[in-house]
Amino acid sequence: MISESATRISPDASRIPSIHEHVDRVIDDMVASLPKPDRLSADQRRGIIARYTSVLEGNFIYWMTGAWLAVKSDEARSKIVENLTEEVRDAHPLMMRKFAIAAGALPTTADTLAVHQNLTDVRLFIGRLSSVHIVVTMAFFEGWIQRFMPYLAELARLQGSSEMEYTDVHGVCDITHTAELYNALEAEMTLATEPLPTGSSLYEGVDLLRKLIDTMITDNAAVTRTVKEQGVAFESRRAHAPGNGASAVPAQA
Ligand SMILES: [Fe+2]
Repeated sequence: MISESATRISPDASRIPSIHEHVDRVIDDMVASLPKPDRLSADQRRGIIARYTSVLEGNFIYWMTGAWLAVKSDEARSKIVENLTEEVRDAHPLMMRKFAIAAGALPTTADTLAVHQNLTDVRLFIGRLSSVHIVVTMAFFEGWIQRFMPYLAELARLQGSSEMEYTDVHGVCDITHTAELYNALEAEMTLATEPLPTGSSLYEGVDLLRKLIDTMITDNAAVTRTVKEQGVAFESRRAHAPGNGASAVPAQA
C-alpha cells in the first residue's frame, strides 16, 4: 500500500537538495568576494550601508508580500505570514533605519539612484508572481543575509556605531527563515501542476538579486557622479521613457 505522504511527493521535490546546494554555492562565492572592511575608505563603508538600507528598508516586506500572493500551498503561506508578522510586529524597517542613522549612512539621492535599475528589475520579477521562482529567490536572500550580517556590523563598527540590533536580529533569526523557505519550496513544488523551469531559468530571481547586491557592495560609476548630474540624467530619462514607467529607465553606467 502506498502511503498518503508518498503519493504527494512530486519528482520535482527531489530537486530541493541540489537547489539548496546551488544557492549555497552562490552565497559562498558572494561572501568570499566581499572587500575587506578595513581596506575600504570611510566613504566606501558608508556607501555600502546606505545602498543596502535604501534597498532593504522599503523592499523586503514588499518582496515577502509578493511571495505570499504567489504561493498556493498552505504550508508556504503560513511560513511566509510568520516571517511577515515578525517583520511588522518587531518593526524591522525601523531597526534598519536606526542602524543606518547610527552609522551616519542614511541613503542619499546618489545612493538611491545607484541601485535604482537593479532594484527595478527585482521588483518587476517579483511582480510576475511566479511562486517557485520567488520562493527560491527568497531562500537565497535569507541565506545570504545571515552570512552578510557580521560584515555589515563590522562596517558600522568601523564607522563608530554601536547600534547593532538590526544585524544581531538578522544574523540569528533568519537561519530559521531559510529552513522554512526551503520547506515552503518543497510544498510549492509538490503542488505544482506545471513542469518546473529547468536549468538556469529557475535561478532568474537569484541572478537578479545577486546583481542588486553587487551594486550595493560595489562603488560603481553611478555613485561617483554628482547628485546634480544624477538628478538631471534621471529626470531626462523619465521624460523620454514610454509611459514614463520605471522599467524603461536604462541601467546605470
Ligand atoms: Fe527583517
